Amino acid sequence: MTNIIEVKNLTKRYEKVTVVDGINFEVRRGEIFGILGPNGAGKTTTLEMIEGLKSITSGQVILNGHDVSKETRKVKFSIGVQLQSSSFFDGLNLIELLETFGALYNRKIDAMELLREVQLEEKAKAEVKELSGGQKQRFSIAAALVNDPKVLFLDEPTTGLDPQARRNLWDLISSINKKGKTIVLTTHYMDEAEILCDRIAVMDHAKIIKLDITENLLKLSGLDTAVHFRVDKPCSIEHLQALADIKEAYEEGHGYRLTTANAEGTLPALFKHAKDCGFKLIDLQLHQPTLEDVFLKLTGHALRD
Ligand SMILES: Nc1ncnc2c1ncn2[C@@H]1O[C@H](COP(=O)(O)OP(=O)(O)OP(=O)(O)O)[C@@H](O)[C@H]1O
Ligand SMILES: [Mg+2]
Repeated sequence: MTNIIEVKNLTKRYEKVTVVDGINFEVRRGEIFGILGPNGAGKTTTLEMIEGLKSITSGQVILNGHDVSKETRKVKFSIGVQLQSSSFFDGLNLIELLETFGALYNRKIDAMELLREVQLEEKAKAEVKELSGGQKQRFSIAAALVNDPKVLFLDEPTTGLDPQARRNLWDLISSINKKGKTIVLTTHYMDEAEILCDRIAVMDHAKIIKLDITENLLKLSGLDTAVHFRVDKPCSIEHLQALADIKEAYEEGHGYRLTTANAEGTLPALFKHAKDCGFKLIDLQLHQPTLEDVFLKLTGHALRD
């Protein structure tokens, strides 16, 4: 069975508003699957229906062969859900908390080993309130792993963290995935989705508007890669235009701007040209299309207004 999750016509309605509108997708065993979308798109609602935490208005979710609505208990034993750090009890240290969670699943766990996995061994005797934001997030991931789940769900795992802590968490999420766990995460950070996810569902206004492997999504922007640079001596536009795979070349500010459909071909040609003509490339910058561009193209609006 290649799919660990199958979502069919999943819908959530409150009174007359439909917040998740008949969405369909599968999550493959072993992948990192991302749901990317702006505030209010329906990401958390989707996740909570899959996890069995929120009732389904209509449609179906099959997780590891079990229907989430009918076999909720079985599903809960095979998933890990990252809790908000505020929901941990006071008065217990990290080791005691993990042991308590393990007991809820009738499991004797090696709490120290779990803390090691999320790099919190030295905080074993601390309480959650004594941890930094990034440490709290890592601890909540450790807590979600106590039942050795098949699928780990992360709802905006790095929101509110500084760049260093975010990168640290990305490494942790990748390493958990490499150890064989399927991961489903939501995010509204383009860079996060791009770096972590094998496949991404782009969600907007309760619907999935596009789903593909990350690499393919990035091609959808239809935009070219741009190369900017300055030089220590003037160089000819005609010569630049003749470089491999160049679409356009023009002067911009105190330097030049090239657009190319194939940066891998253009850049070596540019370096060789500079060497042959005896000029130096200064401040060389590469701008590749991002998921931000793709989102704009697909929806006509930016991810964050
Ligand atoms: N209990 C509820 N009653 C009515 N509407 C709700 C309820 N819970 C959520 N909604 C609405 O459903 C929509 C989707 O919410 P959801 O939390 O799934 O969005 P999200 O994509 O996770 O957003 P964010 O990025 O802000 O976390 C929102 O418009 C929200 O106001
Ligand atoms: Mg949300």
